[in-house]
Amino acid sequence: MPVRVLFVCLGNICRSPTAEGIFRSRVESAQLEDSIYIDSAGTGDWHIGKAPDPRATKHGLEAGYDISQLRARLVRPDDFGEFDYILAMDRQNLSDLEEMRPADFTGRLLLLLDLDVSAAAEDVPDPYSLDASGFKRAISLIEGGCDALLLDIQHHLLKEKSANQ
Ligand code: 4NP
Repeated sequence: MPVRVLFVCLGNICRSPTAEGIFRSRVESAQLEDSIYIDSAGTGDWHIGKAPDPRATKHGLEAGYDISQLRARLVRPDDFGEFDYILAMDRQNLSDLEEMRPADFTGRLLLLLDLDVSAAAEDVPDPYSLDASGFKRAISLIEGGCDALLLDIQHHLLKEKSANQ
């Protein structure tokens, strides 16, 4: 069974698709595509079915990540039954998710940057109403978070493997 990872922001057109693209690239480099399933979603419904914001796509491509094929969707209550890691981009996203969290959720619900001990922030600030530097900063923060997340999951996979031997 793959480890299942869901990135969540507000609109699912800037930060969480960027996180999905960055993390997919990290997972491919580590040749763990068969062991880790990745998705993203938003807590707000304004952009359902839409491609990422053109600025997120442009800055992502410039940094080496193609997110153009992703489409926005809303977080669903069922996601709590399907994902092992639900990673919020900011504290508002986290508090919205905590309100939806069923009592029997056994996965991990946390801020992406909580995993990155060297992160310079707690939140990935929403770049939607910011300029290019907001998008670049989001990419840089998310890269750090995704590196830390991959290490965390690799540790988990190693423990699982040794428990099964
Ligand atoms: P995201 O950015 O949460 O990183 O996708 C936003 C995109 C759209 C809106 C807010 C944030 N909006 O209000 O439409």
